[in-house]
Amino acid sequence: MLRLAIQKSGRLSDDSLNLIRECGISFINSSLKLKTACTNFPLEILFLRDDDIPGYVADGVADIGIVGQNVLVEEGKQELTVEALGFSKCRLSLAVPKSADYNSISDLNGKNIATSYPNLLQAFLDEQGVQAHIHTISGSVEIAPSIGLAEAICDIVSSGSTLISNGLKEVERVFKSEAVLIANQELPQEKREILEKLLFRVHAVQRARK
Ligand code: PRP
Ligand code: MG
Ligand code: ZN
Repeated sequence: MLRLAIQKSGRLSDDSLNLIRECGISFINSSLKLKTACTNFPLEILFLRDDDIPGYVADGVADIGIVGQNVLVEEGKQELTVEALGFSKCRLSLAVPKSADYNSISDLNGKNIATSYPNLLQAFLDEQGVQAHIHTISGSVEIAPSIGLAEAICDIVSSGSTLISNGLKEVERVFKSEAVLIANQELPQEKREILEKLLFRVHAVQRARK
């Protein structure tokens, strides 16, 4: 049995479950159960917070996982990557209040920026020669400017509707991301064989989608 970790709720959840279903793998999905065994393939699905997935896969608590590259690179666990999956594409962007006067990245010098991605943001600011104070929070980042926590935010943008709903405008793109399949690096032979079978089906689904 292979253990797959996917996001419990969020942008990647539906896309991840759809991939498994399109692979012809059946399971009972109740929103309250955080673990489910598939009925026609040796796979068990764990529903977790996306930020916890790279760590669980690195430690072998889960054998494989589907997670955004943004989370994987933020946590410095790129070495777990098996392959990019081509869905749940998004970007990590800097945003400021709609009414703010913003001309260039240097406007962020000395400002407070709220984000859940301090490492990706710091690398970008260093590259741009900008010195700002990064304030790390774990969620609801888009609320930060309106409550006086920060002048700017850096968070994931997909459709852009969360930014709009919170009166923000996107000003810089920091990182491009999509869903990736990751795996523990010391999988025993029998689990590696199940992973090979799963990958065979994933590739067939990807070809059919094109
Ligand atoms: C991201 C981000 C925004 C939302 C943006 O959350 O934090 O809330 O997606 O999407 P939109 O541009 O389509 O409105 P994510 O699903 O990555 O989950 P998490 O931040 O709760 O981990
Ligand atoms: Mg998260
Ligand atoms: Zn701070």
